[in-house]
Amino acid sequence: MNVTMVVFSQTGNTRRVAATMAEAFGEAGHAVRIVPLKEATAQDAAACDLFGIGTPCFSSQAPTPVKRFLRALPVLNKRKAFVFATSGGAPGRVLYDLAAPLREKEMNVVGGFLTRGELHHPAPSLTGRMPGRPNEEDLADARQFAAALCAHVASGEPVPVTGSRPDMLKPGWGFYDMAATLSTDGFLRLVLPEPRHDPARCNQCGWCASECPVDNITMVPYPVLGNQCIRCYRCLTGCPQKAFVADWRLGNLAVLTFYNTLFERWFGDLEPGETIYAGN
Ligand SMILES: Cc1cc2nc3c(=O)[nH]c(=O)nc-3n(C[C@H](O)[C@H](O)[C@H](O)COP(=O)(O)O)c2cc1C
Repeated sequence: MNVTMVVFSQTGNTRRVAATMAEAFGEAGHAVRIVPLKEATAQDAAACDLFGIGTPCFSSQAPTPVKRFLRALPVLNKRKAFVFATSGGAPGRVLYDLAAPLREKEMNVVGGFLTRGELHHPAPSLTGRMPGRPNEEDLADARQFAAALCAHVASGEPVPVTGSRPDMLKPGWGFYDMAATLSTDGFLRLVLPEPRHDPARCNQCGWCASECPVDNITMVPYPVLGNQCIRCYRCLTGCPQKAFVADWRLGNLAVLTFYNTLFERWFGDLEPGETIYAGN
């Protein structure tokens, strides 16, 4: 079978999970392609036997560019598909956000995989959470999930896929599902600081413009942000010259109010005894 995975990954966590799954598909004798979201077209989903979409969780949901890509797919009647995500402990509706548009395109979503990913976010309360994740154990789970997908497709039976999270493929009404509903891009632009550019540090390399997932940065000749910023802070966290800054005094408070250890334990998917700052 031909497997294609379209992957959005800024800091490499989701990409590592995809690469591990690809190894498992390859070992089972299947042909695999991993296509970065920015290069992906509808044809990538149309021209395969099993389609996967992977993403980090942003604001307890799937990031806007991933949702846009999925909404633009054609109807792919009964095409088998799977979804996967990495998150920092409050995944909310991220897997549902991936599965729902695929089902609207009449695809058969056979499994969803969720694991942890270290946070590279400039909000002081979030920086460095989930260190070292996904770790060896997380990647072993990803490998097992991919192997189970192969067995599922080969059997032709509607058997459950080991490691899948069917509970997360349904709409939920929990705290972080509600937080996701509230956290539209427009709302995030109101409550979180806009990345600001410091021309003294910038060498006009254009990295930020090419990396921005919503093409919101124009080089004229220095970077200028448009009004479509989704507050992913990739320009800030990844700039080779460290030429972006943000004022976190109020934004950090807003983030910590919703995304703290207690709430992630009560309403997210932190296990009892698991902490978000120390390695596990
Ligand atoms: C802008 C932003 C928002 C995030 N929001 C959440 C969130 O609401 N819940 C959560 O569990 N993790 C959140 N995370 C953590 C990421 O989902 C996690 O670090 C992920 O593994 C990053 O994947 P990547 O390395 O493939 O980009 C957020 C990270 C960023 C950068």
